Amino acid sequence: MADISENRAHWASASGFILASLGAAIGLGNIWRFSYVVGENGGGAFLLVYVATMALVGVPLLLAELAVGRAAQRESASAFSALATRRIWRVTGLPGVIISFVIMTYYGVIAGWALKYFVAFAAALFPHQPGSAAEYFQTFTTHGFEPVIWQALIVAATVGIVIGGIEYGIERANKILMPVLAVIIIALAVHSLTLPNAARGLVYLFAPDWTMLAEPRLYLAALGQAFFSLGLAMGVLVTYGSYLSASQRLPAAGVAIALGDTAFALIAAVVIFPAVFSFGMEPGQGPGLAFITLPEIFVRMTAGTAVGIAFFGLLVIAAMTSMIALLEVPAAYAMARWGWTRRQAALRCGGAAFLLGIPSALSFGLLGEVRIAGQPILDAIDFLASNVALPLSGLAIALFVGWHWRKAKTENVVGFERPAAMGYWRFAIRYVAPLAIVLIFLRAMSLI
Ligand code: TRP
Repeated sequence: MADISENRAHWASASGFILASLGAAIGLGNIWRFSYVVGENGGGAFLLVYVATMALVGVPLLLAELAVGRAAQRESASAFSALATRRIWRVTGLPGVIISFVIMTYYGVIAGWALKYFVAFAAALFPHQPGSAAEYFQTFTTHGFEPVIWQALIVAATVGIVIGGIEYGIERANKILMPVLAVIIIALAVHSLTLPNAARGLVYLFAPDWTMLAEPRLYLAALGQAFFSLGLAMGVLVTYGSYLSASQRLPAAGVAIALGDTAFALIAAVVIFPAVFSFGMEPGQGPGLAFITLPEIFVRMTAGTAVGIAFFGLLVIAAMTSMIALLEVPAAYAMARWGWTRRQAALRCGGAAFLLGIPSALSFGLLGEVRIAGQPILDAIDFLASNVALPLSGLAIALFVGWHWRKAKTENVVGFERPAAMGYWRFAIRYVAPLAIVLIFLRAMSLI
């Protein structure tokens, strides 16, 4: 094998790397998922647990993954097998690559919905009469093939960017799209806060319902959301870390990514909840929040068309920068494993994800009768990937870095400057993260 690190593509700049990682982290999860998870789990009480989960499990794991990628200079699956000294540990990275691929299949579907809504608002095709948003969503998602067309457009755009490579595809796309994203979300938040009764939404969001702390499902939701939102345990951060050179400082970058991701989710919630309460709607009603409740509000509010265009433009951009990362992981794997060119890998992995995503795209229409464990196909796959497979893959990674990887036991693989920070990280990755993941997982599966 050639000297991998010499020939390997690298990020052109540290800011490009951080923006690309933030782009992966910030996605539908911060808007479409975070808002309803907060709503369903007791507002402020959930936020508190969420922030603690980030500090105790999220950031330590994020740094561990970046360190593995940087040390191995290989994509996720081969990075773990290169660093493993016992056979059984070699497979640590493989589940993440598979999960990434699986998530891409349905993520592209929802991104496609966002694109459809963006176009509908931009072309003034969205129905103006109040009360028609639910029917619009219903008609669209149950259509025989339309969701598949929008999904195809999203996947095609993603493939195009990933073919461009690290510096000229992924890094450049993120450097353009991420600032646009920041401007839109802040403008929308300011607008939301000026609505009548906006304060009620803030109370709902931040006022803690402490009784929820007794609910085990709150902790599973916080862990699942933290993993999903940071893109942990999916090979993304290992793969992106492998395009780093040894001189990049990881701790600051890791904290910046986690803080940026959380801040974005909170600002998105500040866009959503004041608007929801201002118009007397119900929060916490699943993905319908973004695709029924909010469009309904946009139709009723002044300048709602502009707000609708901005909001769905935001969703599309946020989803695109995540789709890029979700495709890069299996594509990088295929290049390393089967020697495919970047072009072949992007086209084949993207094509396969598109085909396998079709059942999800049709899961409310042609395949609407199909139920897996009582849920539509798309929801069932999301549950399996984010609440079952993800924690298990995260556990394997934490154990690998904390207990198996020799270098991590003796050397400062993350590059901490303060010994206390390194001590905290070691403790978190060895004890806190594995224990938290196991307890929460067992409890959620009703095993303890
Ligand atoms: N973090 C993304 C979000 O919040 C979704 C996501 C999950 C993701 N896993 C990923 C993105 C892996 C990129 C890579 O929406």
